[in-house]
Amino acid sequence: MSRGIRPFRPEEEPALRRVMEAALEVDAYPGFNASDLDYEAAAIVAAPDGVAVALDDDTVCGYVSPRHNDLTVHPQFRRKGHGRRLFAAGLDLVACAGEHELRLYVPLSGAGQAFARAMGMTYHSSMWVLCLSPEIDVSEPAFPSGVVVRSFGDWLPLPRLVALLNDSFAGHPGHPTWTLAQIEAAHARPDFDPLTTTLVAPADRPDEPIAFVRTAVESPADGDPAPIGEVRLVGVLAEWRGRGLGRELLRLGVAQLRARGAGRVKLSVEAENEVALGLYRRTGFEPAVEWPHWTHSVTVPGGAGSR
Ligand SMILES: CC(C)(COP(=O)(O)OP(=O)(O)OC[C@H]1O[C@@H](n2cnc3c(N)ncnc32)[C@H](O)[C@@H]1OP(=O)(O)O)[C@@H](O)C(=O)NCCC(=O)NCCS
Repeated sequence: MSRGIRPFRPEEEPALRRVMEAALEVDAYPGFNASDLDYEAAAIVAAPDGVAVALDDDTVCGYVSPRHNDLTVHPQFRRKGHGRRLFAAGLDLVACAGEHELRLYVPLSGAGQAFARAMGMTYHSSMWVLCLSPEIDVSEPAFPSGVVVRSFGDWLPLPRLVALLNDSFAGHPGHPTWTLAQIEAAHARPDFDPLTTTLVAPADRPDEPIAFVRTAVESPADGDPAPIGEVRLVGVLAEWRGRGLGRELLRLGVAQLRARGAGRVKLSVEAENEVALGLYRRTGFEPAVEWPHWTHSVTVPGGAGSR
């Protein structure tokens, strides 16, 4: 019986999705549904270089994607050492990317915590899913003078949108990054709607955006009467913060989602990101689900050592 690890190949998307779907069924991660799974699978396929898979007799039985804080083994292949091998591969991927830690989401229930402890990880902080109920009034957006608000369109080349996303999140606690290939793939999807990305730019340089909001509408979850809205990303370039742009973009995102029929609106935020958390709470969002993140330091080859 052969077991091993190797880089993920995009043509293995169906196998990847099989692992994700089987795990979702068994582990029932709160706050993570089929639509989130679809989003993550598409993002992995679009940026395959940062992902490793575990093989059991040529069957893909698990994967690690440090960018998504995700290490998952298919339920039928657990307790065979695949998780341990994927963890080692995750450390290598992170070291090769020149980063100093492997951060993984560890569900509150199931084997995750025992596994994370066995790997020498420690709890770091939590990501929270926050929800805004349909009854909460949210003010209409009122942007400061001197800026223009524009929907995404051909006026903005994709590489510049990707740069805006990455620059807005530089120094963010979860250090998320996006590649051009990922955003190209997201925009190439048949259900992509350019109106779900709204940008703010200085009025005198309307083609040079400084802030954005991205939203999505998901099918209703079990027991939910209306589709669920999601504010996927809100970002403001550092030098443009403190002028209310984030607050108004959040209000705009909520208004757009409600206009499209959304009931509950959700978003996720790293608890360490106190500024964003405060903004969301003041707007009426309430904590709904906790996603604990655990961490393990990594020695970067040729670097000064682990932190
Ligand atoms: C957590 C998970 C990745 C473990 O994968 P796995 O392939 O079963 O893990 P391994 O066989 O490599 O186990 C490595 C060690 O973790 C610990 N461990 C794993 N599962 C465990 C369980 N159910 N109970 C107690 N300890 C467990 C053990 O110390 C184990 O070593 P041992 O088998 O020598 O005793 C898998 O259960 C999973 O995908 N769960 C859902 C996703 C998740 O929780 N991810 C968290 C990643 S930090």
